[in-house]
Amino acid sequence: MLLWAGENLKLLGSESATRFLKIRNDSVVLNSNTELRGALLDFIADLANWDNSACTTYLDTAKTLTDSAHVALGGMPGTRPLVVDPFAGGGSIPLEAIRVGADAFASDLNPIPVLLNKLMLEYIPRYGERLAKEIRRWGDWMNEELGKKLATFFPEASNGINPAVYFWARTARCEGPGCGKVIPMLRSAYIVEKRERTVWLEPKVNEKSGEVLFKLRESKTPTTLAPIVRRGSLTCPACNYTTPAANVRKQFSGRRGGVRDARLIAVGEIGADFSGKRYRLPSDTDFGAVEAAIAELDREKSSHRGALSLIPDEVLPYLRSIFNIQLLGVHEWGDLFSPRQGLVLSSLVQLTNSVAEQVKDEGEFGKALVTCLALAVGRCADSYSTLCWWISGAEKPVGTFGRQALPIVWDYCEVNPLVNSPRSWSVQYQWVLRFIEQNASIQNTGTAEIASAVKLPLPDDSAQCVFTDPPYYDAVPYADLSDFFYVWLRRMLKDLYPTLFSEPTTPKKGEVVQLAERNPAYSYKTREYFETLMQASMTEARRVLTSQGLCIVVFAHKSTASWEVQLNAMLRAGWIITGSWPIDTERPGRPRAQNSATLASSIHLICRPRPVTTSSEAKANEVGDWRDVLAELPRRIHDWMPRLAEEGVVGADAIFACLGPALEIFSRYSSVEKANGQIVALREYLEQIWAAVAREALALVFKGADASGFEEDARVTAMWLWTLSAGQNGKDEVEGDESDQEEESDTTVATASGYVLEYDAARKIAQGLGADLESLASLIEVKGEVARLLPVSERTRTLFGKDDSHAPSSSQKRKKTSQLHLGFVAELEQAEEMGKWHGKGVPTLGKTVLDRIHQSMILFAAGRGEALRRFLIDEGIGRDERFWRLAQVLSFLYPKMSDEKRWIDGVLARKKGLGF
Ligand SMILES: C[S@@+](CC[C@H](N)C(=O)[O-])C[C@H]1O[C@@H](n2cnc3c(N)ncnc32)[C@H](O)[C@@H]1O
Ligand SMILES: [Zn+2]
Repeated sequence: MLLWAGENLKLLGSESATRFLKIRNDSVVLNSNTELRGALLDFIADLANWDNSACTTYLDTAKTLTDSAHVALGGMPGTRPLVVDPFAGGGSIPLEAIRVGADAFASDLNPIPVLLNKLMLEYIPRYGERLAKEIRRWGDWMNEELGKKLATFFPEASNGINPAVYFWARTARCEGPGCGKVIPMLRSAYIVEKRERTVWLEPKVNEKSGEVLFKLRESKTPTTLAPIVRRGSLTCPACNYTTPAANVRKQFSGRRGGVRDARLIAVGEIGADFSGKRYRLPSDTDFGAVEAAIAELDREKSSHRGALSLIPDEVLPYLRSIFNIQLLGVHEWGDLFSPRQGLVLSSLVQLTNSVAEQVKDEGEFGKALVTCLALAVGRCADSYSTLCWWISGAEKPVGTFGRQALPIVWDYCEVNPLVNSPRSWSVQYQWVLRFIEQNASIQNTGTAEIASAVKLPLPDDSAQCVFTDPPYYDAVPYADLSDFFYVWLRRMLKDLYPTLFSEPTTPKKGEVVQLAERNPAYSYKTREYFETLMQASMTEARRVLTSQGLCIVVFAHKSTASWEVQLNAMLRAGWIITGSWPIDTERPGRPRAQNSATLASSIHLICRPRPVTTSSEAKANEVGDWRDVLAELPRRIHDWMPRLAEEGVVGADAIFACLGPALEIFSRYSSVEKANGQIVALREYLEQIWAAVAREALALVFKGADASGFEEDARVTAMWLWTLSAGQNGKDEVEGDESDQEEESDTTVATASGYVLEYDAARKIAQGLGADLESLASLIEVKGEVARLLPVSERTRTLFGKDDSHAPSSSQKRKKTSQLHLGFVAELEQAEEMGKWHGKGVPTLGKTVLDRIHQSMILFAAGRGEALRRFLIDEGIGRDERFWRLAQVLSFLYPKMSDEKRWIDGVLARKKGLGF
């Protein structure tokens, strides 16, 4: 096996893959399993590189390796291992399974994932290049036909440059006394917001007509503008009266989102080569084209004779904080599109149907082709709705699903589908064909079916691997969201896929999701419902897996409570958890990822089926002794932490990566009992894991030096910063993502500075270190679910105040401070003034080493070199060796760009100069 694997890897000639290979007489020799492991891991890393993913040498090697592993594990030669993903979604897991030469079975409750998986597992491997070629041919044909039909409605500009994007705003009436003007609801007046250039729309009231119009303004420097719309309320640019959000909403009752009377405000033009973006006010031609499009759509609607309405009239549900657009009187999916957008999309639907008619004799291939074109139309729906908005910083439009929600977007942008804009029809279908070209070298096929994960259409013991990324509680309402696409796809594909598209909208019953709090119609979809179904699906996964098989569950939720539930579900379903690996699967720029204080990656939980035992002796062995488990736990963590650190896994990722190995000790038994016979709950064990991990991590942070000499505030601070070190390197939590235009959204993260952790994770860390968050109130602020390690500057009052020098700095006090806009330097001066401690180092020495370090950091930051000197020398602080040791550790842990890092390094730099 070693020799054989070596030979295969040699084929690649890749530098990293051959790092471990020794070539003797032109043969490759791997001397040990460790070398084999190293070579294989290197190979996987190389294969994961996007550029290699379509390279046949890599794919062939991967296939041979998969084959050999399969046979080595008892698989019949000539057969392939089966990888099952019961929550297949977009299908990334099954696609990778067939890429490396396994068979794949992908199922999902939702028809759209099934369609996507059919494309990847069945159509691309079967038709590859031919499919891409035909998509280009028919996509071009559609482009031409679309141009012929829609040219009047998207007129070319006279200067030869085409309008690429139109800026719109919904309108509402000002309720100010005696005003009543109709105001375009501009949430942001910026069109370009860059350091070197700002372009914005300035409201101007036409005295004669009383109309609110706009001027286009430009400057080379940033400009600050007062928004017309703020959290749904409307401030009138004519009379300055603010109409409250609730009244504005009332005005939308019955107006179906107000798209018919929305106002076209500006037009963006773009050169054919994407260069030379220019902005202008709309012309009469632009207004005329919109009017003509409205008339055309109305005409087509009245002459339409299809079984389904021309524009989707299926009902769009309300989901609190996720689907808020309903609050503007939007009740049908079609209401999300302006008349001209509706005209574009219905034209694309008709053209796709026309292609279907023309290729109907081509059987499965024709079906594959039409499916691809329909999916490209789906991409257009995402780009051509009234929930698309404009990023002024990047000068580009964002699609509907910039976020997995349907929030209210007051000012939306409409893309021209005809020109070479970033979201035109030709760009969309070419995106699909590029995806196909990229994956055309995959020859293995798989199967995609519609099925619930709790009842898979597979026999017992039929899969070698279950690999899945299940839904997480209320994170994403997949089925409801997918209806946005489903209603359009159904108008093109229902005859080709009668089963998948039999219902007006996607199936909701049985979806593993928590939505009870979002809509009374889903009152049964409670937390418990989610957990029961998740447990059932884990049991089902266990049923279809062979006894030698492997189960991998991707888990990215950062709440520790949901970890507990997921792990409990796995244990009850008869799994032994053997590993947990953090793997980067998400784009780093994702809005949520930027804010997340804990996980930088998705954790992959690795499990194996616990053998079913029958004999009474074996059954007795299944019960573990709590004392043995507890004794083994710290040893296991002690072995793992340094290994993880070596691999660059630190912070929260390392904590979660330790869960797997720690859980193996516990989950190898069907139950663990205390001496008195009491069964140990998973929760109790998890607390022990957290404690063990925290202690081990702390030892690592203090590099083996004794950390116990430090007070609890130092231990907690060090662990806190270490935990965050993988998740983010910046100092501040940032504001909620830009797409969040809706006032009711609960996803906005407060703009608090400091180092933020989920409360429960923070509590566990503290507990593990024998500390108590509540007693650290001067250092840590807890608000609801969030705990914040205060930035050092916010501790100024606490550390230097006169009488209340060590009183917990209540959030009320901090609030007052910020209201006064006092910086910490001013605070320091004020404290100095009041405490009359001029000439002395500090009024009172901080109680703990950490407090004293923070005091010296503040003195340094405020430029009080002399006071700092007195503090360190006269007060004797600098003679405490712990002071410098902790300062060193903190310097290592504070994020690189933070104030704290600069300050602590400033203090450390004084050490030598002062003779310590
Ligand atoms: C996290 S997503 C999977 C994402 C996927 N790994 C990808 O790469 O796109 C979870 C999926 O579970 C599906 N789902 C929810 N309830 C289900 C059920 N009862 N049976 C099968 N699939 C279900 C959803 O439709 C969704 O596609
Ligand atoms: Zn007014």
